[in-house]
Amino acid sequence: MAEASMVDPAPLLQLDKVETCYGLSQVLFGVSLSIMPGEVVTLMGRNGMGKTTTVRSIMGLTPARAGSIRFSGSDIRALPSYRVAKLGLGLVPEGRQIFPNLTVRENLVATARGDGEGAWTLDKVHGLFPRLAERGGNMGNLLSGGEQQMLAIGRALMTNPRLLILDEATEGLAPLIREEIWNCLGMLKKAGQSILVIDKNVDALTEIADRHYMIERGRVVWSGTSRDLLDAPDIQHRYLGI
Ligand SMILES: Nc1ncnc2c1ncn2[C@@H]1O[C@H](COP(=O)(O)OP(=O)(O)O)[C@@H](O)[C@H]1O
Ligand SMILES: [Mg+2]
Repeated sequence: MAEASMVDPAPLLQLDKVETCYGLSQVLFGVSLSIMPGEVVTLMGRNGMGKTTTVRSIMGLTPARAGSIRFSGSDIRALPSYRVAKLGLGLVPEGRQIFPNLTVRENLVATARGDGEGAWTLDKVHGLFPRLAERGGNMGNLLSGGEQQMLAIGRALMTNPRLLILDEATEGLAPLIREEIWNCLGMLKKAGQSILVIDKNVDALTEIADRHYMIERGRVVWSGTSRDLLDAPDIQHRYLGI
């Protein structure tokens, strides 16, 4: 047993047959996916297919009504969102949702947690995104979209997440800023950070990520490695329309 678990470590996050509704309207119909420690995994699909709802179910923001969600071995399906966050899930939400009336620095410090070895600090976030140091005294609502996304990522990192989740990592951002975000995710991966990323940029995602899941109408319809996805233009066409 011990040997088997060394070869095949337990998933950091595991969703099994998750079903989620908004009121009477069911949106997820048995979503199963897993992320191993240190993996970068994507969830892709067209708009309205259930990506954000999957994230909201994981985070306890829209609790799943059936199935199981396990994080690092604990069942988190029915936990309130603040407890899920505390267990080590850090979310960069769709639309960023930074605090508009706090400065950049205050936004970052507001979520700071822990000061152990390897903990994220203001200096480390500034090292990753020098722009945030330059804009430290600016109010959150005066930032460009790209700066807001950097801040949202920095804010999530300040909680020292064991799993970082980005919902629409580069949506609506200029090409140069996108590049900067992808570079940042590449660096985080190299440092061993586990990441679940939602985005539509197959070129960047197949370079950075280990594995991919396609979701359509609340169901996982395909999963595979970056190589599998690159070798399957029909899958990209069918589920992403490209
Ligand atoms: N708060 C909500 N109330 C009711 N329906 C919702 C709500 N949020 C999303 N939906 C519906 O759930 C489906 C999946 O949405 P979502 O998870 O946001 O998709 P994606 O992130 O893949 O674009 C869509 O049909 C959407 O209209
Ligand atoms: Mg979404």
